[in-house]
Amino acid sequence: MKKNNFLVLLCIVFYSLLFSCADEKQAQSRANANHGLELYERMCANCHQSDGSGFVKLYPPLKNADYLKQNPKAIFGIIKNGMKGRVIVNGIEFNLVMPANPKLSDKEIEHIVEYVQTRFLSSSE
Ligand code: HEC
Repeated sequence: MKKNNFLVLLCIVFYSLLFSCADEKQAQSRANANHGLELYERMCANCHQSDGSGFVKLYPPLKNADYLKQNPKAIFGIIKNGMKGRVIVNGIEFNLVMPANPKLSDKEIEHIVEYVQTRFLSSSE
């Protein structure tokens, strides 16, 4: 009987630890997402727009961009080093210069990447 009580207690402790961990992780990823949103609005939305739709034939879309889907690893380097030259995104040709962002830390870039991927690439809208 005593042993059973101990097991029950152990389970309760285990579960509460598990859930508090999950909570913390969730809070952390929410904080990262907010940070990503804030950076996106400040550093990217001027050109790519808040909704990721891009701007006519000047700035390519990020939302459901086939280019990003086909080159999922490219975005980090694009944000860091900028991009130039001819590129076709969702059937439209773009050929302008995106400036590099030498002041952003790797962590900040990661948060922007996470934001772009969850907001613009995972929805089927
Ligand atoms: C001054 C305008 C400008 C800003 C600010 C800007 N971009 Fe771009 N971006 C461009 C242009 C122009 C291209 C296409 C470059 C080319 O023609 O080769 C591009 C291309 C891209 C591409 C690859 C093409 C695509 O649509 O998938 C990604 C991804 C991207 N930008 C993400 C970002 C992110 C994230 C930020 C914010 C950190 C950002 N850009 C800020 C203008 C901009």
